[in-house]
Amino acid sequence: MAVSIKSEREIELMRESCRLLAKVHQELEHAIRPGMTTMDIDIMGDKMIRDMGCVPNFKNYNGYPASICVSVNDEVVHGIPSRKRILQEGDIVSLDAGLIYKGYHSDAARTHAVGRISPEAENLIRVTKQSFFEGIKMAKAGNHLHDISNAIDAYVTSFGYGIVRDLVGHGIGTHLHEDPQIPNFAQRRKGIRLEAGMTLAVEPMINMGRADVEWLDDDWTVVTEDGSLSAHYENTILITDGEPEILTLY
Ligand code: MF3
Ligand code: CO
Repeated sequence: MAVSIKSEREIELMRESCRLLAKVHQELEHAIRPGMTTMDIDIMGDKMIRDMGCVPNFKNYNGYPASICVSVNDEVVHGIPSRKRILQEGDIVSLDAGLIYKGYHSDAARTHAVGRISPEAENLIRVTKQSFFEGIKMAKAGNHLHDISNAIDAYVTSFGYGIVRDLVGHGIGTHLHEDPQIPNFAQRRKGIRLEAGMTLAVEPMINMGRADVEWLDDDWTVVTEDGSLSAHYENTILITDGEPEILTLY
C-alpha cells in the first residue's frame, strides 16, 4: 500500500488526536505507584480516553482485550492488564496507548520507573528514549526512511543493548498501522523517501540483554528470551521539510 500524505485538514485532526493522547500519558505517569495493579492503569486510561469523546484503538484490535498495553520488566510490549499483577517498587513499566479522534489515530508509549529503580534500569529507559530522538533527527523530507533506523541502531548498539527486531514502527493515520514499517535496526536498503505530510509512529523497543523475544501463551505478551529488562518509547510524528513535529508530546 502507498504511504499516505496527510492534507492540512488531516494534519490538524492528527495533531488533536495526538495532543489528547499526550494528556492521557501524562496522567497515567502521575498515577503510577507501587501496589497498583496493571488493570488499574487500563481502567484509568480507558475511562480518560472515553471521557474525551475518543475511542481506544487498541481495544479489540486483532482481539487485544484492553485499551492500554501494560508491560512490566522483561515484558517488551503488549502485556495484558491483570487484576493479579501488582506493581512493585523497583519495577519498570511500559505503557503503550492510542486513541481515535474523529477517525484519526494516535499512538505513543513510555517506560516509567515504579518508585526507586536500579541505575542500570534507569540507564536503559534513558537510552531507549534518547534513541527515538537520535532516530528522528533524520526524519525530514528528502531523507530516506532507513536513515531513522540506522541512527537508532548506531546509538543503541554503542551501549551494548539488544534492539528488538521482531516488532517495528509504522505509518499511522486513518488506520493504527499503515505503511511503511519502520525497523529500529540498521538496514542495507535506504527505504522510501520521506515526504512532508507523512505521519509515522517511531517506537524503539530495547532490551538490556539480547535482542531475542518470545510470545507468552496468552498470544500477546512479548517477553525477552533471556529474561532481561526491556524498555519502549514511542511518539507519533509529522514529517515536514524541516524538523519533524512530535505530535504526542506537549
Ligand atoms: N503501539 C502498538 C503498536 O504499534 C499498538 C498495540 S497493538 C494492540 O503495535 F493490539 F495491542 F493494540
Ligand atoms: Co505503534
